[in-house]
Amino acid sequence: MRLLAIGLLLALPSMAMAAAEPNTQVPSGSRYYAATAVPDRIVASPSVDPSHGFAVAWRTNGSVQSPLLEIARADDTPAIEGIVQVRAKTQVLQTENGLSHHHRADIDGLQPDTLYVYRVQGNGSWSAWNQLRTLAAADQPLTLLYFGDTQNKNVSHVSRVVRAAQKAAPDARISLFAGDLVSGGDDMDDSEWGEWFAAANWLAQETLVAPAIGNHEYFEEFEDTPQERRVLGRHWPMTFALPGNGAGAAAGTSYWFDAQGVRVAVVDGTSALDLGTAKAQAQWLDKVLAGNRQPWTIVLLHQPFYSPREGRENAALRKVLLPVVRRHRVDLVLQGHDHTYGRRGEGQAATPQYVVTVAGPKQYRLSGQARRTMDPVGEDTQLFQVLRIDPQRLRYEARTVTGRLYDAFELRRDDNGGKQRVEQQEGRIAPRDCARAQTAKGRTDRCWE
Ligand SMILES: [Fe+2]
Repeated sequence: MRLLAIGLLLALPSMAMAAAEPNTQVPSGSRYYAATAVPDRIVASPSVDPSHGFAVAWRTNGSVQSPLLEIARADDTPAIEGIVQVRAKTQVLQTENGLSHHHRADIDGLQPDTLYVYRVQGNGSWSAWNQLRTLAAADQPLTLLYFGDTQNKNVSHVSRVVRAAQKAAPDARISLFAGDLVSGGDDMDDSEWGEWFAAANWLAQETLVAPAIGNHEYFEEFEDTPQERRVLGRHWPMTFALPGNGAGAAAGTSYWFDAQGVRVAVVDGTSALDLGTAKAQAQWLDKVLAGNRQPWTIVLLHQPFYSPREGRENAALRKVLLPVVRRHRVDLVLQGHDHTYGRRGEGQAATPQYVVTVAGPKQYRLSGQARRTMDPVGEDTQLFQVLRIDPQRLRYEARTVTGRLYDAFELRRDDNGGKQRVEQQEGRIAPRDCARAQTAKGRTDRCWE
């Protein structure tokens, strides 16, 4: 008996699950992510017409005011010529990492389908020259990446998803994110943003990043009092240089753009659910989709219309916004928030296809209803999605962080303007379930922290 007990103890360390981890790799109180004179947190985002322009946001310390962005046509020589300078607008942010200046430059007048180099200015320093190709005409093929919530442990666990996605789709031009990029929710999340940029790395600088806002990019004011309300976190408007053409009631957090044959409309689900803007956003979305001349449509929002997680029901989204999505026959609805995987449509119709996915390590559990109404579903799996689109086909793939195919289908346009969906079962791995009874912290309603 005693021998057996010793044997079990000896066996335990090699069998143990990784212990619960902190949310960031930098210790609490560390100023590792404080802004300096050297530009960081550089991220490109689409303008309304990304075949002729884009926008860049970056950060420095307080010594830099209205810095320059330089852009030129890319060539093989380091002797970059024909540089055009664009002056940025600057905003000030005070965080647990001190004061930082956040800059935004909008570039337009570019040639379509052309490779450019750009760099951004600090104080006595410049960033690297980054290469970015403007989007082409609608008849050219386009590759996009889509990531569900990253939210936690961005350096430790999210960065390898980003790297895997870039290896799987090195030709991706746009990176869509479901929101909840950080856990944040209060004024102590600057190091989490630092980690998000460390994880996103060159992806943020050399693809056009288009994020939906998640509930964690808001914080609760007057929490646990009758006056409790959601307030937009201060990072969001300064961190991304988004088009700003959203619904009036959610101006900084909803937007749309056209990308080489796809109209992408980004909705603020938190504002719709908690700030009473569902109707206003539905009216805006209706107009944006009615004016769509592109062959494909994607709607991106954080909270799903059909939740795969037990006990979650986003009634206002379903009642107010979903009819607009159905009426305009949106092709793909990309969502997050529920930290599981699940896809469904509406009966036998080819479109819309509703996807919920997760990139980060926080993993929840599927409801029984999700298992009955969605296919495939998945738990305990970090994923990324690759979308390959041309005028006739939209090909969707969900891959696990190790690169294995988890879900795949193709939408095909027929001659009558209709669409067909062809499921691809071949090469998919079996659906994954959570095998743990509880998380390292003892939670039975989740699968991993
Ligand atoms: Fe969320």
